[in-house]
Amino acid sequence: MSKSALLTSSIAKKYWMALTGLFLCTFLVGHLIGNLQLILKTGEEGRRAFNEYAYFMQHNIFIKVLSYITYISILFHAIDGLWLAFQNKKARPVKYAYNRPGTNSSGASRNMAILGTLILVFIVMHMVNFWAKMHFSHIPLHTTNKTVDMTVGYDEMGQEVRRKINFEYVLTTAGTYQEVKATDLETGNTSDMMEVKDGTMLYNLEKSGERNANGLKAGEGYKDLHSVVMGFFGQKKEGFPVNSLALWATIFYTISMIVLAFHLWHGFAAAFQSLGLRHKRYTPAIAFLGKTFAIIIPLLFAIIPVLLYLQIEL
Ligand code: HEM
Repeated sequence: MSKSALLTSSIAKKYWMALTGLFLCTFLVGHLIGNLQLILKTGEEGRRAFNEYAYFMQHNIFIKVLSYITYISILFHAIDGLWLAFQNKKARPVKYAYNRPGTNSSGASRNMAILGTLILVFIVMHMVNFWAKMHFSHIPLHTTNKTVDMTVGYDEMGQEVRRKINFEYVLTTAGTYQEVKATDLETGNTSDMMEVKDGTMLYNLEKSGERNANGLKAGEGYKDLHSVVMGFFGQKKEGFPVNSLALWATIFYTISMIVLAFHLWHGFAAAFQSLGLRHKRYTPAIAFLGKTFAIIIPLLFAIIPVLLYLQIEL
C-alpha cells in the first residue's frame, strides 16, 4: 500500500477510525475518574482534590502530550467518520426498499455519523464551557477564609484591643495555605500581604503594603476550576457567577450522554471488527464489554451534572 493509501483508502480510514475511537474510549475512562471527584468528595476536600487534579492535568508533560493526541484523535475520528458516511451514501444513492439500519452497514454508519456529529457539537460547547475558560480567561484562585478574634494593639490604659479579623488564604501548589489579605471586620480596613501576577503567581508584599524589595515569589496558587464547574451547574460559590441556564446545561449534558451511549453501543465492538480482530470466543465477549461500557460510562458522566444541579451530596 502506498504511503497516501495508508491514510486515504476506505479500509485505512476505517482502521484509523477504530484506533482513534478506542483511544478516545480510554480518554473517557480517565476523564470520568477525574470528574467523579466532583461528586465523591465534598466541601473543601472535594474542591482541593479537583483543583489539584486539574492543575496536574495541565502541567504534567505526559498528560499534555496525551491531550494533544486526544484533540487530534477527535478531529481525525470526526473527519474520517463523516467522509466514510458520505462515501457510503454516494456508493448507494438509492435507499433500500426495506431499510433495516441494524442489518445493513450503510444505515448503521449513517446513524453513527449523525450521533458522532451531535457528540462533536457537545464537545465544542463543552470546551467553550470549561476548557477555554481554564486556558484563556481569568479564573479566581482557590481561596479560603478564616475569621480570628485577635489583639490588634493596646489603648491608652494599656488594655488589649481585640478585633475580628478575616484572613483570606490561597492554597498553593506546595500544599500550604498562604495569607493573602486581612480585613478588619469592624472598620472594613484591608491589608494585602500578597500580590497575584500572571493569574496564579503569588508575590510577597511588606506589611505596609509596599512591594518587598526582592519581589519574592511566595508560590503558585490553583485556579478554582471546581467553583467554575459548580457555578455552571447552578451551585452558589462566593466570588463565582451562578449560571442562570444551569437547568438547560444539565439537560443538555444529560441528553448528550444518551447520544454518547448510542454511539458507543455500536462503535465499541465495531472498532474491533474494523481492526480485523474476530474470534469465535472473543467476539461475543467484546460485544458484551462494548455494551456494558456504552451504558456505564455515559451513565456515570450524566450523574455528575444531575447531582450537582440538584445539590445532592453522596
Ligand atoms: C458530564 C460530565 C463532564 C464534566 C463535569 C466535564 C468537565 C470537564 C472540565 C472541567 C474540563 C476542563 C479541564 C481542563 O481544562 O483542565 C474538561 C475538558 C474536556 N472534556 Fe470534559 N467533562 C465532562 C464530560 C465530558 C465528555 C462526555 C467528553 C467527551 C465526549 C468530554 C471531553 C472533554 C475534552 C476533550 C476536554 C479537554 C481535555 C484536555 O484538554 O485534555 N468531557 N471537561
